[in-house]
Amino acid sequence: MFSRVKIKELLANYTLGDTVTVMGWVRTFRNNQFIALNDGSVLTNLQIVVDFENMDAELLKKITTGAAIKAVGEVIASQGKGQAIEIKAKEVEVLGVCDPEVYPLQPKKHSLEFLREIAHLRPRTNTFSAVFRVRHQLAMAIHQFFHNKGFVYMHSPIITGSDAEGAGEMFRVTTLPLDKLPKTEEGHIDFKKDFFGKSTNLTVSGQLEAELAALALSEVYTFGPTFRAENSNTSRHLAEFWMIEPEVAFADLNDNMDLAEGLLKYCIGQVIEHCAEDLEFLEGRLLDEEKQKPQNERSEMSLREKLQFCLNNDFQRLTYTEAIDILKNSTPNKKGKFNYPIEAWGADLQSEHERYLVEKHFGKPVILTDYPKAIKAFYMRVNEDNNTVRAMDILFPGIGEIVGGSQREERLDVLMARMEEMHIPLEEMQWFLDTRKFGTCPHAGFGLGFERLVQFVTGMSNIRDVIPFPRFPGSAEF
Ligand code: 4AD
Ligand code: MG
Repeated sequence: MFSRVKIKELLANYTLGDTVTVMGWVRTFRNNQFIALNDGSVLTNLQIVVDFENMDAELLKKITTGAAIKAVGEVIASQGKGQAIEIKAKEVEVLGVCDPEVYPLQPKKHSLEFLREIAHLRPRTNTFSAVFRVRHQLAMAIHQFFHNKGFVYMHSPIITGSDAEGAGEMFRVTTLPLDKLPKTEEGHIDFKKDFFGKSTNLTVSGQLEAELAALALSEVYTFGPTFRAENSNTSRHLAEFWMIEPEVAFADLNDNMDLAEGLLKYCIGQVIEHCAEDLEFLEGRLLDEEKQKPQNERSEMSLREKLQFCLNNDFQRLTYTEAIDILKNSTPNKKGKFNYPIEAWGADLQSEHERYLVEKHFGKPVILTDYPKAIKAFYMRVNEDNNTVRAMDILFPGIGEIVGGSQREERLDVLMARMEEMHIPLEEMQWFLDTRKFGTCPHAGFGLGFERLVQFVTGMSNIRDVIPFPRFPGSAEF
């Protein structure tokens, strides 16, 4: 019954005169005659021409926007413009009706805010189907890139007992009764009675486990969901996001930067190669969106120009210290335009600073290295100066930080001292410290925020529009 040809395959390879079966959802039905059918395999709708004079009136009435239908018919050359072929229907069957009076998706433009409220239906729109096809292509590209280089895909745990970033932004996982928490003699919650016999949370990063694996398999990567209970209501933050975390033994920060730049360029190249139609559509969408903005806030490059530009240019590499000098002397800093003025070395960079460097000063992606150790995680390798660490952040136009990584502290004594300084409980991290005790070696890795990459490539301005079901403070619908 469900033998059909997908619209993408049909458009790519057809023979006039063949009889084919297609299935999909009606986008529009014009003049009781022309169905625009979409099955999600491709952006383009397929036109189905029905012979309404010889069709049952009850059936005709059920062909409405949103209905699922099956159509059997002959492939003919299209009379109309904009399409090579259409289907002259011999038979139409309505598989699932859709009452147009209550169907929230009308054949017109809806705002992204409205569509977010009906995230269960938004994949039926051109914008979201394009975004999700590109998201898929990016996921494939990531696996392909690492597979081609001989990396092993490692599945890091989702439930952990540790805080990999030491930032304390964790969602607790527990089966303890919240209304009757068991207490220890000292009056603390008794996690020995919890499901795992200890306190657990959703992972904020798979890095620590990836490090364990890299110190055995040399080159590994993780690609999975990560969770942060940070109360950030921005267009760049999600409470649940996907992260790609490669970890490489016998590698330093330069190798790490080369790997990250290579990965980003490969992913962008794959989308340009395989998602041409979707990219063209998304570029047009972005152009329309930008027309609403004042001239000086519009980007100078179109979406595809921007992607091409990233491919063709080396990312600008500089140290945090050099960046601070640039920022200190920048016009917006001198004129008091930054919300967080840069006064001294040691300041944490805000997204306004990152965007100034990328969009105004260099006009291309930037890799910042060697940050002050005080503003970075405990596992980063301490430099000779004992003041900075071998960190790297990659900053992208319109996005800000897209990658965060570092060379790791492989020296047991230095690592333990750092952990003590930062109040990371050593007893609970014995398994991690074991790697430094037994055959430690220089190694490095990074985390790429998958949704930020999808945002960059699709030109979507809000991160909530590049993941099917976004989770953010106050919202876990669907
Ligand atoms: O810079 P972060 O916190 O680094 C780590 O988690 C390291 N353990 C990675 C590693 O070295 N293996 O996060 C890495 C990236 C960020 O650069 C950003 O792209 C993304 O993850 N990210 C988020 N994306 C969406 N929503 C959030 N709340 C994010 N927090 C981080
Ligand atoms: Mg970071």
